[in-house]
Amino acid sequence: MTDSTTADTVAADTPAAPVLVLNGPNLGRLGTREPDVYGHLDHAGLTEQVRRWAGELGLSVDVRQSDDETELVHWLHEAVDAGADVVLNPAAFTHYSYALRDAAAQVTTAGLRLVEVHLTNPATRETFRHTSVISGVATGTIAGFGAASYRLALAALT
Ligand code: DQA
Repeated sequence: MTDSTTADTVAADTPAAPVLVLNGPNLGRLGTREPDVYGHLDHAGLTEQVRRWAGELGLSVDVRQSDDETELVHWLHEAVDAGADVVLNPAAFTHYSYALRDAAAQVTTAGLRLVEVHLTNPATRETFRHTSVISGVATGTIAGFGAASYRLALAALT
């Protein structure tokens, strides 16, 4: 057995790192936050849905939410170190956080995939939401399908 065969065998037997599903500020308030815009599903319900869809797609996921930019940046670093793909809803940080953009860029330049997701379609909303500083370093973006945006993002990672 050559070294490369050994390496291939190890790679094939090693389970993929769970996809990190990261939700940014105010998404912990889903359900009560502007339900006419974001719907009635709360964050616990969204997490349950995401876990169910991931299971159906044969993926494992780790779903987290934080209002804190530093914590989100550190979770993206963790994804790079663990070799994990990421589904990221940066929420309002989408529109101005260069720190989150720089951290997201580390994910994709490491050869991992990062899907930017939004419940709503920011392009149809207030002008300040039309800019995403994340999109330029994301693998792709899915927006406007409510919770199903996450299912489409996970499907893109299969
Ligand atoms: C959002 C859209 C953002 O503009 C907003 O700040 C959010 C949620 C979405 O999922 O539609 O908090 O990312």
